[in-house]
Amino acid sequence: MQDAFALACRYPDEQNDLLIAKLAKMNNVAPEQILLGDGSSEILKLSAETFTGSNRGNLVSADPTFEAILQHASVTGADVVKIPLTNSFAHDLPRMLTAAKGGLVYICNPNNPTASITPKDELRDFITKTPEQTMILVDEAYFHYADSPEYESVVPLIRDHPNLIVARTFSKIYGMAGLRCGYAVAQKETITKLRSHQSWDSVNVMALVAANASLDDHEQVSNGQRLNREAKSYVVTQLEKIGYHSIPSQANFIMIDVRRPVIPLIQQLKQRDVAVGRLFPALPDHMRVTIGKKSEMETFLNAFRAVTA
Ligand SMILES: Cc1ncc(COP(=O)(O)O)c(C=O)c1O
Repeated sequence: MQDAFALACRYPDEQNDLLIAKLAKMNNVAPEQILLGDGSSEILKLSAETFTGSNRGNLVSADPTFEAILQHASVTGADVVKIPLTNSFAHDLPRMLTAAKGGLVYICNPNNPTASITPKDELRDFITKTPEQTMILVDEAYFHYADSPEYESVVPLIRDHPNLIVARTFSKIYGMAGLRCGYAVAQKETITKLRSHQSWDSVNVMALVAANASLDDHEQVSNGQRLNREAKSYVVTQLEKIGYHSIPSQANFIMIDVRRPVIPLIQQLKQRDVAVGRLFPALPDHMRVTIGKKSEMETFLNAFRAVTA
């Protein structure tokens, strides 16, 4: 990135194309099947703008899920239909399919904020059954953290499903949340439609070189997975010791059942300089906590013990 300061006076086309070539190879698709975004947030926004609206169709999502796309879809004038997660915190795909009316179905897998997954067989079956005029966006922001045999990426299904889009990000395992880079994988025609709603050159050159460098650092992913697994298992074990359970996590955060309204706890933790996740209204007695370094998690645990004592 320091070397890339010399590139900052130019438009970022060359770095853009380099990153697309690497991502295409990694995902076993053609470069025309990749669209870079200013974070995967931009991919979500473009998907809502392209495929939802009062005359294009509704948005169907889980509840709770990552809310950004709900907001973008409502701005387009689309109906937003929220379908509660199942008892095992998976997406209720049969109900989501029934609710879809053209438009777009948003599936966050692993799901934010519950850190839970939707099993691979159910998701495959859903993708096969969904009519082509309904687009499916699978948000795989937390893909690298899922290690359950019940989980799989749906990128390989794109070949046979023109209505499938997958969103990925450099914000999580690659640790680049402040730099802003994400991408979509889909069939070429879908990428062309998404791009027509996008600003030109929307990803900056610093983010592009950082993403390129991250992909060349072959230990980045495995190190991140190991550090996350160790810190997560430490926190979950410590919480269990004091009687607090969390939803089994397949991500880099946990959702703790705090058995009382979470808002006062969030405020008390904030007074101790510990920032945890916001309220998710569908689960008002749960606290979302991102897994950080082990030392940060010790600080969290001390504060959590104090405010719940
Ligand atoms: C499920 C999910 N998708 C997308 C995003 C957006 O990530 P970014 O725009 O940083 O790629 C987030 C951020 O927390 C997320 O949790």
